[in-house]
Amino acid sequence: MVLGRLRWLAGALIALAGLAGPAGAADYVIRFSHVVAPNTPKGKAAERFRELAERYTNGRVQVEVYPNSTLYKDREELEALQLGAAQMLAPSLAKFGPLGIKEFEAFDLPFIFPSRAALRRVTEGPVGRGLLEKLKEKGIVGLAYWDNGFKIMSANVPLRLPEDFRGLRMRIQSSRVIEAQMRALGAVPQATAFSEATQALRAGVVDGTENPPSNMYTQGMHEVQKHATLSDHGYLGYAVIVNKKFWDGLPSDVRKALERAMAEATAYANAIAQEENDAALDAIRAAGTTDLHSLTPEERAAWIRALKPVYDEMAPRIGRDLVEAIVREAGKAD
Ligand code: LMR
Repeated sequence: MVLGRLRWLAGALIALAGLAGPAGAADYVIRFSHVVAPNTPKGKAAERFRELAERYTNGRVQVEVYPNSTLYKDREELEALQLGAAQMLAPSLAKFGPLGIKEFEAFDLPFIFPSRAALRRVTEGPVGRGLLEKLKEKGIVGLAYWDNGFKIMSANVPLRLPEDFRGLRMRIQSSRVIEAQMRALGAVPQATAFSEATQALRAGVVDGTENPPSNMYTQGMHEVQKHATLSDHGYLGYAVIVNKKFWDGLPSDVRKALERAMAEATAYANAIAQEENDAALDAIRAAGTTDLHSLTPEERAAWIRALKPVYDEMAPRIGRDLVEAIVREAGKAD
């Protein structure tokens, strides 16, 4: 009896505290952590998801978006997701290796996607779906692929030919494929958390890096890089992932509403990614701190030649069948 009353009192106090707090009327809170700026394709899509999720669930779900590594850095956020401290993330496909899912690194293979349409065929087809499915064994549900774009390469020296990379320390994401790519160019790869990349460039801990223009500009990397080559040598995109226990524990109507919000946020992300990167490139150009180089067909052929061995070197890690399936799908006419 007394215990029952105490329980009731505790429940009432929690409810009151809840009403006063930001999570007010919400039954569920999704902490969505990411590492990039709010004004990037991922940052904007996360915000769009927040708005739609709250609207479609009539406020039963509250989404808290934490951009720019304010909650967790790269590696921490994956741990937090598995522990349930964060519910949703959108790490780049290059960052799933440390989780034990190496196959996503296939997306990092140099020059593997000739166009966004080719990429889309892979992410939206059986290969893309199969990869998301693999996350389940890690207690994670893969909800969608979000686009960013093709990468440019930067340093304080012009990077026209593979020999220009010799000995340069290049900041990379934690992907073995990107590591092999940098070594094939004669550079020294250095995996660094995204939150520390600009500072590492500024301090001269690393000499150069790669990223799509949207990340380069919003992190201010262009301010500390005198040259950038518009090489489009690799792709950077994301998988939106959620803690499986949390997801499976949601009532089905709430989950359905969130799936609808995610589908619309995904369409939005993929629609704005190209224009966001074009605008960022214009902004880098306008800033005047970085000389931008385009590759001649001969220079591009030299990059492709130098990077070809990465496929054979990495096939055992990623799976030769998977690499071949992606190459086949990507190679079809747009
Ligand atoms: C990077 O670390 O360079 C990117 O993965 C950052 C991001 O999430 O776009």
